[in-house]
Amino acid sequence: MVDTYRATPDIEVITSDFAIPGFGLLPVNAFVLKGREPLLVDTGAVAESDDFMAKLRSMIDPSELKWIWLTHTDFDHMGSLHRLLDEVPQVRLITTFGGVGIMSAYKPLPMNRLNFLNPGEKMTVGDRTLTAFRPPVFDSPATVGFYDSKSKAVFSSDCFGAILQKTVQNAGDLTAQEMREGQVFWATVDSPWVHKVDRSAFGAELKTIEQMQPELVFSSHLPMANGKMFGAMTAALAEAPGAQPFSGPDQAALEQMLKQMTEAPAG
Ligand SMILES: [Fe+2]
Ligand SMILES: [Fe+2]
Repeated sequence: MVDTYRATPDIEVITSDFAIPGFGLLPVNAFVLKGREPLLVDTGAVAESDDFMAKLRSMIDPSELKWIWLTHTDFDHMGSLHRLLDEVPQVRLITTFGGVGIMSAYKPLPMNRLNFLNPGEKMTVGDRTLTAFRPPVFDSPATVGFYDSKSKAVFSSDCFGAILQKTVQNAGDLTAQEMREGQVFWATVDSPWVHKVDRSAFGAELKTIEQMQPELVFSSHLPMANGKMFGAMTAALAEAPGAQPFSGPDQAALEQMLKQMTEAPAG
């Protein structure tokens, strides 16, 4: 079920918890940044598009949107993208050449309504300057996050996500251990290549990311987090290359799950 909350006076979150059987809950977030040129960051999951659109309408008239930032093209990020492009003729999509290429295998994007923004580039969106960056972990070559000058917030896409055992609206309501374990585990699931990195190069990249010193962190898969937690979040990522590699349940586990689902309750 899709829910909403206000993160700051002009940033609202559209969120849903996806249950991952046997592991926990994965928040799936999109963000509405209000201002002179309203911006929607990602468009929810395909499976929840109707609910997502209803919740979006409860916080903004979609016809007011000027921009959509697609952090990448996965099904939990592009769920209502084409509906919005169809419904709001003036909205423009910020993405990359790679993002357009991947989307073309599903349904082509309107080329005259795109703004390409590559990592390292900036663009002005009304009263905000957005600085694009490639997050240190990601699961798609199209992934681009950004730093917003107005809110001093980082929007990190899948990076800094966590598989959690309970629903919270603020990452500060999790214990340090819940955060660290959830983030390390998610990094091994979503970015399995992390075990192949040169750890000193990866550590140097994390140090560079830390220098952004955001006041807020908005990951697609973590409740909103205060920037004071950013050091602990990058430290958790630094652990990921040496963590246990993730291997999903095998066929025997699947058959056990199916058996449990079909067995009549005892008694
Ligand atoms: Fe992803
Ligand atoms: Fe994602």
